[in-house]
Amino acid sequence: MPSERDIEKELWWVHKRSELLSLADQHLNAYVYDLNTVAQKAGDIQSLGAVDRTLYAVKANFNADIIRTLADAGVDFDCVSPGEVRMVRDVLSDDCESRILFTPNFAPRDEYEWALREGLRVTIDNLYPLKHWPEVFGDQEIFVRIDPDYGAGHHEHVITAGVNSKFGVSIDEIDELVTLVNSAGSRVVGIHAHSGSGILEPQNWQSVATVLAEVAGRFPDVRSLDLGGGIGVPDRRGVPGFDLATLDELLGKVKAEYPDYALWLEPGRYLVSQAGVLIAHVTQTKEKGGHCYVGVSTGLNSLIRPALYDAYHEIVNLTQLDVKATETVTVVGPICETGDRFGTERALPPSNEGDVVLIANTGAYGYVMSSRYNLRDIPEEITI
Ligand SMILES: Cc1ncc(COP(=O)(O)O)c(C=O)c1O
Repeated sequence: MPSERDIEKELWWVHKRSELLSLADQHLNAYVYDLNTVAQKAGDIQSLGAVDRTLYAVKANFNADIIRTLADAGVDFDCVSPGEVRMVRDVLSDDCESRILFTPNFAPRDEYEWALREGLRVTIDNLYPLKHWPEVFGDQEIFVRIDPDYGAGHHEHVITAGVNSKFGVSIDEIDELVTLVNSAGSRVVGIHAHSGSGILEPQNWQSVATVLAEVAGRFPDVRSLDLGGGIGVPDRRGVPGFDLATLDELLGKVKAEYPDYALWLEPGRYLVSQAGVLIAHVTQTKEKGGHCYVGVSTGLNSLIRPALYDAYHEIVNLTQLDVKATETVTVVGPICETGDRFGTERALPPSNEGDVVLIANTGAYGYVMSSRYNLRDIPEEITI
């Protein structure tokens, strides 16, 4: 069992503490991304023998340096909007269409027309487009997103399969899908599913792959099974990381059973979450109703995950990293919402106005979900 000290030694932001503190001298609030960590995470996924292609879910973080780092590592891109496609194209080059999978949901007709015109591989996740606009997909190769009928995830809002989710074509609609595809004249070349986010059990992808392989048997042109993203990242120290070796082994079994299909993964969080930290400054402290509060210079406008998903993010006082944590405090921002809390009942050393506070594992779904609520500024992004 690694000690707390051993775990701490491995954290990039502990090694780069003085660099982060000098950045904090120049920026009240900032997201800082460590590109070595991004490259290392990409290497971990790319080394899985059973995975033929990795697409980064750009929604997790569309920072240009991150996109470039992942592209250099051989990762391709899953985009859910024309804006994300434009971002990837701006960073790479105009002829990178073959590296992009376009997976919108409930998008208007003209987005599909545009994507096909641009030569992008398109995923549909509903029968509606084939039923109402078959001419758009005639003679086209498409992917179809299936709802494998069960979902998983770290919070109900991120479970993206199963009866209560808006995503995907249900298993009991497959007969109709076959009819619609044939009458439109399209060819289904890939079957896709994304069952949820923040999943720590590797068996999830084996089950998804098995469902997709069975569905794929109904479509003679299928070459790829896209098993989606969702690979979880432990949010606390001491919790073992995702077991990629077991994932590889389980997907290897799927490949042995269905050798005709290439297996794709579409991670977002896994590639970028641990690479990012949010730094801010202590503004004020307060004791009220038996609670101690530490106020910091940005709030849920910068990082909405704790308010939206009850997400846990480690919080440290970077200025006083070596000082013993003797206080139990709630860390709050300046936004006019009671939910504007980064962490409740956290152990921290006594905080002083101006101390630098670091919120860890914020490289995914952090900056990309930020807003100007209360007309507060969005933190800058800095890559190191
Ligand atoms: C279709 C699709 N693929 C991949 C992902 C990435 O998920 P994660 O960041 O949990 O890996 C998502 C997230 O919502 C998604 O909707």
